[in-house]
Amino acid sequence: MERTYIMLKPDALKRGVAGEIISRIERKGYKIAEAKTIMLTEEVLKEHYAHIADKPFFPEVVEYMVSGPVLAMIVEGPDVVQGMRILMGATKWEEAAPGTIRGDYAFCTSENLIHGSDSVENAEIEINRFFK
Ligand SMILES: Nc1ncnc2c1ncn2[C@@H]1O[C@H](COP(=O)(O)OP(=O)(O)OP(=O)(O)O)[C@@H](O)[C@H]1O
Ligand SMILES: [Mg+2]
Repeated sequence: MERTYIMLKPDALKRGVAGEIISRIERKGYKIAEAKTIMLTEEVLKEHYAHIADKPFFPEVVEYMVSGPVLAMIVEGPDVVQGMRILMGATKWEEAAPGTIRGDYAFCTSENLIHGSDSVENAEIEINRFFK
């Protein structure tokens, strides 16, 4: 069964909407195979977000991502990598459609509640990174 790495970001936990987001994932028919809360470090974020590490907004992303615990999850289901990206909605808040998680909960691009792997290959890398 295909797997993906999903992470509920600190704002999701601070706002108390983690349960609602997990319900949406389960309602779709995907299975939460593993879950744990962890505190991220700047070191692991430089690895995880290497593709944006040179962007001017990266320090802001790090500050936000270490501001509280995240909920790291392995989610399973058919075509779950693509399916979760659709449930999550677009990266930019103004492009995230209503009905998606970001479209319904996020009002800015940096604090966008949820991370999901963007390819099957990256899903396995990210699962190994956070569930060693
Ligand atoms: N223009 C931007 N301004 C502020 N923050 C941004 C911007 N672009 C991306 N980010 C932040 O960096 C994260 C990683 O960017 P990426 O391009 O990988 O988007 P994504 O794949 O939709 O998000 P994620 O990897 O968290 O699932 C985004 O989720 C967001 O928190
Ligand atoms: Mg990404």
